[in-house]
Amino acid sequence: MINKAYYLFLGLLLFSKGSIGQTNTNFIAAPYLQIGYQPNPGTMELLWHSADSSNTWEVEVKAEGTNTWKKAGKPELTRVAVANLNTHFVYRTLLSDLSSGNSFQYRVLKNKKQLFSAQGKAPKRKDQPFRFVAFGDIGAGTPSAKLLARQAHLANPDLVVVPGDIVYERGLISEYRTNFWPVYNADTISNEGAPLMRSIPFVAALGNHDGDTRDLNSHPDALAYYAFWDQPLNGLPAVEGGPVVPAIKATAENRKAFETAAGKAYPVMGNFSFNYGNVHWTFIDSDTYVDWTDSTLRKWVTDDLAASKDAAWRIVVFHHPGFSSSIDHFEQQQMRLLSPVFEAGKVDVVLNGHVHNYQRSFPLTFQPEKKGTLLVGGKDNKSIRGRVVPGKWTLDKAFDGKSQTKPNGIIYLVTGAGGQELYNEEQEIDTDSWQKFTFKFIAHTHSFTVADVDGNKMIFRQIAEDGKELDTFTITK
Ligand SMILES: [Fe+2]
Repeated sequence: MINKAYYLFLGLLLFSKGSIGQTNTNFIAAPYLQIGYQPNPGTMELLWHSADSSNTWEVEVKAEGTNTWKKAGKPELTRVAVANLNTHFVYRTLLSDLSSGNSFQYRVLKNKKQLFSAQGKAPKRKDQPFRFVAFGDIGAGTPSAKLLARQAHLANPDLVVVPGDIVYERGLISEYRTNFWPVYNADTISNEGAPLMRSIPFVAALGNHDGDTRDLNSHPDALAYYAFWDQPLNGLPAVEGGPVVPAIKATAENRKAFETAAGKAYPVMGNFSFNYGNVHWTFIDSDTYVDWTDSTLRKWVTDDLAASKDAAWRIVVFHHPGFSSSIDHFEQQQMRLLSPVFEAGKVDVVLNGHVHNYQRSFPLTFQPEKKGTLLVGGKDNKSIRGRVVPGKWTLDKAFDGKSQTKPNGIIYLVTGAGGQELYNEEQEIDTDSWQKFTFKFIAHTHSFTVADVDGNKMIFRQIAEDGKELDTFTITK
């Protein structure tokens, strides 16, 4: 009897050990869904990474409630052959004719043999309620990042939004392999991660840790963002070395390898917009190399928001918060310069990261004093650290998110407690250290945002890594 129990225990132990953090060995990155270069409620992109280009790959899709497998588009492959890493291939295929808002099954076959299957959720139309999760500064590989992946999975969202700092320390291909795919697209649900990306799309903004490393001679596998994410290419026209994208440093060979891997995503994919459900989403690159005082750049945001009239809500996502009370990164206020553009464009909520805690502002409007003061530093005294932007704000203190739910102004959320080391825990109880625009400041735990969007109502919740609710508020139109 004792022996039987012992072997049962041993078996369970081996089984659980074997499943934790394990990924399907047929793939370098298991299949994951993306909204694609041209998002549409009836389509999604499916991507996977393999070391192998010599076989025939196929994808089949089965709609909910049917028994027929239909062949998806022929997978195309992109070669990723950067120095210091074995060559691998990114496969992409378009899943079309999806029934918006409904689940579907898909399977990936190699030489007619099924290697992988999962359930996906097709994007929602504007008349369908949906739930999204948002958390920034995530791919740090820390125990908290992994617990949040599990909590995000438990929240059962339709979409995940990452306001930058996707992968630490430098957004390298090698770092995606240790800190990202095994956590956000794990084969099993555990304290090591969860199978999120195979079923729902993540959409990400560039953070400084994703976009700052542009010396491809010292880091040939940098800027993996452009190779691995399929996001809209409808953003600011960008040329390398211009006001939107800085010059990269690379030998001809390293440049060619990068450009082949990045394909048409480089250099344009840093800024883009799309509709999901009844929300218009604008994703912006807030890294300090972008000059948001430039009128051409500002006009793109103005025009994008003006053209979004068919959506009920407007949410803007970028990395560096304009309105944060944290002492860490306090001086990087460059994005305050866009507040008047957001206000004119009727933006409802702004989602940021960079500062590793949670902060909610009062609904506010802001008028900057000119262009603020540019901060430069570094060895050559030329690297730009951001801008200090003083100005005048008005706060809507009548809004409480419970009985008074119509905000007069934009609510700015910092949701950067997604896994990297927390910032300024000491300020949470030191309310005197908060700026006047801050309503909530929670820094003692890692957390993420969950929002339910249903017609003219959005309910936000901030959830800790242990599942506890830290904050909630409702916005209505
Ligand atoms: Fe950051």
